[in-house]
Amino acid sequence: MNTIQAKPAIIAIFGATGDLTKRKLMPALYNLFLDKGLPPKFAIIGVARDGEEASFRSYMQDAMAQFSRRGAVESNKWDEFVSRVSFVSGEFTDANTFTKLADKIKKLETEMGEPATNVFYLSTPPFIFATIADGLGAAGLSSDPTRQRIVIEKPFGRDYDSAEALNSELLKSFEEKQIYRIDHYLGKETVQNILAFRFANALYEPVWNRRYVDHVQITVAEDVGVEKRGSYYETSGALRDMVQNHLLQIMSMVAMEPLVSFDADEVRNKKVDVLRAVRPFTKMNPHDYSVRGQYGAGMENGQPALGYRQEEGVDPQSTTETFVALKLFLDNWRWQDVPFYLRTGKRMARKYSQIVIVFRPVPHLMFANDVPDLLEPNRLIINIQPEEGIILKFQAKEPGTGMRLSTVSMGFDYNQAFHAQNREAYETLIQEVVWGDTTLFMRDDQERAAWTIIEPLLDAWESRPANTFPNYSAGSWGPEVSDILLARDGRSWHNPMMYQSG
Ligand code: BG6
Repeated sequence: MNTIQAKPAIIAIFGATGDLTKRKLMPALYNLFLDKGLPPKFAIIGVARDGEEASFRSYMQDAMAQFSRRGAVESNKWDEFVSRVSFVSGEFTDANTFTKLADKIKKLETEMGEPATNVFYLSTPPFIFATIADGLGAAGLSSDPTRQRIVIEKPFGRDYDSAEALNSELLKSFEEKQIYRIDHYLGKETVQNILAFRFANALYEPVWNRRYVDHVQITVAEDVGVEKRGSYYETSGALRDMVQNHLLQIMSMVAMEPLVSFDADEVRNKKVDVLRAVRPFTKMNPHDYSVRGQYGAGMENGQPALGYRQEEGVDPQSTTETFVALKLFLDNWRWQDVPFYLRTGKRMARKYSQIVIVFRPVPHLMFANDVPDLLEPNRLIINIQPEEGIILKFQAKEPGTGMRLSTVSMGFDYNQAFHAQNREAYETLIQEVVWGDTTLFMRDDQERAAWTIIEPLLDAWESRPANTFPNYSAGSWGPEVSDILLARDGRSWHNPMMYQSG
């Protein structure tokens, strides 16, 4: 155990009775506790407008059965954990709430015998982020940059200006190094493994460039619809909800230059370089490089599913996109003219996230007489979820006379290789905040660079509202226009069903 980890920690969650706390944060904290990932001395404080300690504790116990990867709790362990959980109620606009919180923290620190790392996790609607940061500042809870940290959930702004404005607000009370902007995809083991795969192996780096790579595909498909989040989603859409953050971050990790060290700023500098290299939509007709979609009624896992416009909280005439596909170029030496195709959608045929690196065909094929016309080029498939692993597809000779070739695969599967259940992204991220490591969090300039990419497209779409929505059925692979985007380049999306582990 290192010394940073051994320092006591107090984690205060604002929005403690909300959905994220129940589904992700509390299960993550409990699993960290079970795995000894929290310091021996720790405390959790739920902060919310209404509620009290006993009901908060039992509400969280119920949530565990539903949402923890380990299922229902074992009572002796849970009792030990929950004895560290307390509650502060109050309005986030009321200075008194912060005074109560500060008093509670002081009391806990006295019991712990030393000042603790203080983590303030804002799991609230974004409009209140700045108010809470101000309240913490005024209560003296932000003044020690070595141990007081604030965690901000996404969305971080809804465009460049609002992200910058929010940042200025936060900087009134906190320094940049105290601010942990969450993109939970960065906590996924398989996403972190992109760097290990690229930079701990000598084999791939020499071919990881425009000379050998034909194009890259990044897909984050969900089978669920907007669930109960219709009213939030109406103000967001897939471009803001998924592309500005998760997809651009994955792309950065695939495309970044090798690192000098695994230092937080070095990693984030290299990522931001990628975002800055993205050819701006202002230099081309955005409509030629993007498509959008919205799901209509259809099926989800064999059951009838509503169309987006029929979902709770959604305008029956909504033109909000639930699907996006983009073709991006990176203007730099490594990737010039290599298309990066990104797509994400809700209510697609299946939940899966996958990166496919498609290599160029061989320069000369002497087996031409015996192989089908379309010999598949090599491709490397990085499965992020739910399959977790990497598959290399290559050509092999089929047994028998003649030289017939077939595509075969070599695979690495996380579960088989490590015989362990991967931990949840939030477990990793909370632990990193407690340890004070910002590597997996978005720095201010990354946020702004991502908005710089997205904003011209948001403007272009707004000036030409979609008039074909809904244009894909729930349970399909998205709208036809998405296939056309690639077909125009003589390419097609990969069928994930053909590329599962094995
Ligand atoms: C969130 C989005 O950031 O990511 C959601 O707001 C989306 O709309 C979710 O469903 C997907 O995360 P995961 O980890 O389930 O792929």
